Amino acid sequence: MEIIAFVNNKGGVGKTTCSKLMAEYLSKTKNLKTLCIDFDPQCNFSHQYLQMEIDPAAPEGLIPPIHPDYDPHDPNDSDWDGRSSIAEIFYGQGVVPYPTYIQYLDISPGHAEKLLSAESVRRSEVVEKVHKQLANFLNSPDVRAAYDVVVIDTAPSKGPLTISVMKASTHIIIPSVMEEQPVQGIYGMLQLWMQESLAREKSRPLQLVGILPNMFKQTRLHRDILTSLQDNSAIGKYVLPVKFSQRIVFAEVDAADSNPRSIFDFQEQHVAKSEAMEVCSYISERIFA
Ligand SMILES: Nc1ncnc2c1ncn2[C@@H]1O[C@H](COP(=O)(O)OP(=O)(O)OP(=O)(O)O)[C@@H](O)[C@H]1O
Ligand SMILES: [Mg+2]
Repeated sequence: MEIIAFVNNKGGVGKTTCSKLMAEYLSKTKNLKTLCIDFDPQCNFSHQYLQMEIDPAAPEGLIPPIHPDYDPHDPNDSDWDGRSSIAEIFYGQGVVPYPTYIQYLDISPGHAEKLLSAESVRRSEVVEKVHKQLANFLNSPDVRAAYDVVVIDTAPSKGPLTISVMKASTHIIIPSVMEEQPVQGIYGMLQLWMQESLAREKSRPLQLVGILPNMFKQTRLHRDILTSLQDNSAIGKYVLPVKFSQRIVFAEVDAADSNPRSIFDFQEQHVAKSEAMEVCSYISERIFA
């Protein structure tokens, strides 16, 4: 089972958009059983597939809806409130992924309050209570039997949640806009990747698939920053030869009433679909080769 995470501590660079495109490519065009994980308290990835609800206990945050398998009259469900987020891994409770409108795509949504509280666990306890938990969950026989691939969307942070994603993943991808501030985020992520690589057993390396330029425009700024990254002796080799352009349709399909809801349901000749196929198939071949 491959575990692919999109990471960059800078906000708004396309982690969620790229996670969604990759997960839909793998499930819809490759028929791989795909588990999406939303590890960001903002819960943007969850919102793509589920009707997330406002948390009555913390109105600025979102919680998952009632799970379709929950039956309040079933005695087996008596100690379950009917909601299940990925944050249950920090509370020793079962995680029950939700089916979505896409046949082979399930999601374990976020839970704002519970993810935020994992992010603030005391330093002395963080390794046991947070860092190891996602890897433990993804190594469980049930998850391994149910899924071929896992796609994880992360928060714009280098905190404990992102560290636990680094520890659990087999592959990471660093999306970035070709502008000064987001590019700075790449260095921080490369540092985390190297730290984690050193700590890993040789038999299960954390592979950096590469830096994925996103929202690329044919402007002087974007071209110059991309060229300087490609020419950089330390980083150039990690810059992927494919990229996502700035295309309004990548943002438009996020709307709840978008029709179709997936780029992969557009007509074959659609430029955004062709680009998504090109980028995702390149990444997929690198990972599954
Ligand atoms: N290639 C693209 N073309 C056009 N719009 C895009 C593209 N990629 C992302 N966007 C839009 O840019 C915004 C930020 O993207 P996204 O939410 O994927 O970034 P993020 O890294 O997940 O942000 P955060 O750090 O807040 O989680 C969104 O509104 C998204 O729809
Ligand atoms: Mg996001």
